[in-house]
Amino acid sequence: MLLDVDTGVDDAMAIMFAVRHQDIDVRAVTCVDGNVPLPRVLQNTCRVLDALGAPRDLPVAAGASRPLLEAPRDAAQAHGADGLGGILLPHSDRPVSDLHAVELMRRTIEDSREPLTLVALAPLTNVALLLRMYPETAARLQDIVLMGGSASVGNATAVAEFNVWHDPEAARIVFESELPVRMYGLDVFDRVGLDEESVARLAASTDPLTTALGELLDFWLRDEDGLPGGPEAARIGDAGAVCSLVAPDLMDIRTLPVRVETAAGPARGQTVVDRRRGPGEDAEHGLADTGKHVQVVLGAQEDAVARLFL
Ligand code: BDR
Ligand code: CA
Repeated sequence: MLLDVDTGVDDAMAIMFAVRHQDIDVRAVTCVDGNVPLPRVLQNTCRVLDALGAPRDLPVAAGASRPLLEAPRDAAQAHGADGLGGILLPHSDRPVSDLHAVELMRRTIEDSREPLTLVALAPLTNVALLLRMYPETAARLQDIVLMGGSASVGNATAVAEFNVWHDPEAARIVFESELPVRMYGLDVFDRVGLDEESVARLAASTDPLTTALGELLDFWLRDEDGLPGGPEAARIGDAGAVCSLVAPDLMDIRTLPVRVETAAGPARGQTVVDRRRGPGEDAEHGLADTGKHVQVVLGAQEDAVARLFL
């Protein structure tokens, strides 16, 4: 897979899961402005890869430093000023590619003998640029799995989820592309988490990577700024989207029309998910077109996914 991130407490957990999972081959990691400014995202990503002992030649590149139209708006309130909840991971001197993230994606897709999955866990600016700059190359992807959007409530606004809200135009380009898209949205993002006991056990480990994971989860467990309290607060977030790739059977996945709202106003950045019908029912019901069909993860066997992650 290609992994596009804005690391980020939960992006860090997703990178850990993807790099360590035996069935996943991460070919490149690309960074985009989102939770924190791009230079911070890049450094955080490298710190996490170091902690994992990932090969130093795993390509890492920086991409868009701002959304297509919007000004950058970070999420430091949810991830801490440094984006990693202040956990103690050493500064990284890992080599970073000279290529722009979009160029690295292009080369990696073209060099691959098999179609790759692009996993996007951040605002979709890099992915939209890839689709617009190199449509033929992008068409060689197997699919795009993204954390973003919601079939219910939002977090950045009442109805918009952060990654889509941050760059709605980019999200629209991605959702409307010809590629198969899977949306792992807030409906599940907020629900898969670890209980306090598991978090404490991880944090008390003698293995530094496990301790770091425990501290990341603990940061969210202790966060009181608008996140729901209780066990679900120690959620695995973006990592759940990667879990959906290796264990789709643990997820409730429906194919539904989704439209990204880009008009100015209170709904900007909302993913309007039409849950009134199933695939192929459009003509039958005579409903107006309400967006392109994408796979929407509406729910998950939460405990089983948390166990898989652990
Ligand atoms: C998304 O926004 C970011 O803060 C998280 O890393 C996640 O990708 C959740 O809305
Ligand atoms: Ca993220």
